[in-house]
Amino acid sequence: MLINDAMNKEHWSLSSLRPMTDEEFHLWQALIETRVGMTVGESRRSFLCTNLGVRMRELGLHDYDTYYERLVQGAGAASEPEWSVLVDRLTVQETSFFRHQPSFDCYGRFVADSIRDHRRNQLNIWSVGCSTGEEPYSLAMQLQVQLDASGRAQEIFWGITATDISLPTLAKGREAIYPVRRTEQVPEIWRKKFFLPCGKDRLQIIPELRAKVCFAQVNIMELAKAPFFDMDVVFCQNVLIYFKRFRKRDIVSHLVQKLTPGGILILGVNEMVDWQHPELERVRDPGVLAFRRRLST
Ligand SMILES: C[S@@+](CC[C@H](N)C(=O)[O-])C[C@H]1O[C@@H](n2cnc3c(N)ncnc32)[C@H](O)[C@@H]1O
Repeated sequence: MLINDAMNKEHWSLSSLRPMTDEEFHLWQALIETRVGMTVGESRRSFLCTNLGVRMRELGLHDYDTYYERLVQGAGAASEPEWSVLVDRLTVQETSFFRHQPSFDCYGRFVADSIRDHRRNQLNIWSVGCSTGEEPYSLAMQLQVQLDASGRAQEIFWGITATDISLPTLAKGREAIYPVRRTEQVPEIWRKKFFLPCGKDRLQIIPELRAKVCFAQVNIMELAKAPFFDMDVVFCQNVLIYFKRFRKRDIVSHLVQKLTPGGILILGVNEMVDWQHPELERVRDPGVLAFRRRLST
């Protein structure tokens, strides 16, 4: 079996792959959209073919149909390892620390209000589509700094849940090692507080902060099954860009159900247009797209 695999790979070349027919393209489009939500438009057809081809070469498969069958076989859940690898190749994992500062300022104001509320003794934060960890660690750093300054650090129990569909990106998030140049958006004083040198030109998040962030695989197309409730903050940015409008609405409605009354949902600016939800009120902050779950509905 191993020898066959090796021979298959040896005789494999991208140029020998038969061009994808329109019918096959539509089948792949539909499969990817139903399982992981992502829309692959005509303009991304060659991107799809190239990435499928590269993955097929790794697997020693010679035609699109065989790979298709392999993906739909069995339970076919998008959480299965092969889906994770494929989605990893097809999605953009671009991210950075404190990527959209106005959204982090909005989050900081919510945290400040929560700390002032002396009835509160816990804060649960969720970074949805967390990629390689920069977003959840930014949320964690900001919260820790505010708690330290408040004098309530010992009273408030908190944690960040960081989820993504891609297993390789989650592994990088857990490892928490970043090139120094990628940490430039972190204020210098925070960089000293929360990072340690790790080899040449690399920094690692300190263990105490890493322990506050729990990474888990969650496909946002399967949120009904995700065992998360009573979130104070749901932070979901730059994930829904490739999703059709009706899917975005469905996903965001599920996220609302995961929020505790009074909690906030912070989306990427322009990611939801003309959208309202009966259980939410818009946070009055012109530079961000954030909503608060009403206390009683
Ligand atoms: C562009 S990154 C955004 C990272 C971060 N939220 C930010 O704004 O910097 C998009 C992330 O969404 C993840 N993603 C794409 N489809 C997903 C799905 N169906 N379920 C969960 N995560 C998904 C990708 O793996 C990727 O890590």
